[in-house]
Amino acid sequence: MSATPLKNDRFLRALRREPVDRTPVWLMRQAGRYLPEYRATRAEAGSFLALAKNPELACEVTLQPLRRYPLDAAILFSDILTVPDAMGLGLYFAEGEGPKFTNPVRTPADIAHLAVPDMDGELRYVMDAVRTIRAALDGSVPLIGFSGSPWTLACYMVEGGGSKDFARVKSLALNHPEAMHQLLSVTTDAVIAYLSAQRAAGAQALQVFDTWGGVLSPRMYREFSLRYLQRIASELERGEGSDRTPLILFGKGNAAYLEDLAATGAEGVGADWLVDLGEAARRTGGKVAVQGNLDPVTLYATPDAIRTEVGRALDSWRDGNGGSREGHVFNLGHGMSPDMDPDHVGVLVEAVHTLSAR
Ligand code: CP3
Repeated sequence: MSATPLKNDRFLRALRREPVDRTPVWLMRQAGRYLPEYRATRAEAGSFLALAKNPELACEVTLQPLRRYPLDAAILFSDILTVPDAMGLGLYFAEGEGPKFTNPVRTPADIAHLAVPDMDGELRYVMDAVRTIRAALDGSVPLIGFSGSPWTLACYMVEGGGSKDFARVKSLALNHPEAMHQLLSVTTDAVIAYLSAQRAAGAQALQVFDTWGGVLSPRMYREFSLRYLQRIASELERGEGSDRTPLILFGKGNAAYLEDLAATGAEGVGADWLVDLGEAARRTGGKVAVQGNLDPVTLYATPDAIRTEVGRALDSWRDGNGGSREGHVFNLGHGMSPDMDPDHVGVLVEAVHTLSAR
């Protein structure tokens, strides 16, 4: 990728735990239905999937939040379920019901048929979107690529969609642990190939979303989720020194495992709001940057309450991090919701920059 110097590299510097003038901020689901311009572009595309599969329109919605707010990073507009879709599971969205698969994976025989998809074939549209967005950003801020974690992808692949209790996927893990490991293993190979291809196409940081790791008991988390996150962190080729493409491991409900995640070799760990940032700083001991972790519901509060909570989170990090603000990337503890007020997002972003100015 051409080396247009970045105009704003706060996010990458923070991930390297280097000094920055202000704490960088971006928001999970910063491109989405809370923005009227997103709803208009999605209507033009016809559906969410048509939007994600059209590199020009995916680029347009990636840039929309950056036109409104001085965010410090862009995130590829796509979905974690593109990978199982490309593995032949048939992704679709039933109105009001979230994602579903026509061909879920239920038995050891189903698992035996799975293979790593072709990054220049079925998933080429994702790499085209990365290239298009990277060119359009023109060095303004770094572009984050992403993937689901093997466990989180397996949840959707086995359940065939969302789930309340994850009974099918947990039963598979309990009844057929070897088949479950085979599923996680081929999915891990796919995740590594997918992240590598996004990096080659121009992604400047990579995030793994382990949205459902926290539904597992500690014993099962270590066996079925953490082990594969460790493999990704150690096997994913990402360069050296200041050219290294940082990897962030985000997990909902991962507070019990911060030490383990900090020891994987990833550059960043994403935390939800069930842990104080100061405690996260102490427990990760300067090994990694930490990203998070404001409760997304804070965005429904008043502007004054948002500013107070932002200040508390920033100070909690500083106090647990030996008095220094370095090594923190501000984010929510999970994604934004469609009914959030766009003006409140502006308040949050401004508060992060103002209250963290060095
Ligand atoms: O953060 C961003 O702005 C980048 C885009 C992004 C989307 N999905 C767009 C999207 C990212 C990073 C994701 C990741 C994703 N997708 C995750 C992991 C992160 C998380 O939220 O825990 C998961 C579990 C999925 C699976 C998925 N895709 C679900 C459960 C849904 C339905 C959600 C809902 O609120 O209806 C989707 C669809 C989806 N992915 C939307 C967006 C903007 C909404 C689709 C629409 O426009 O109707």
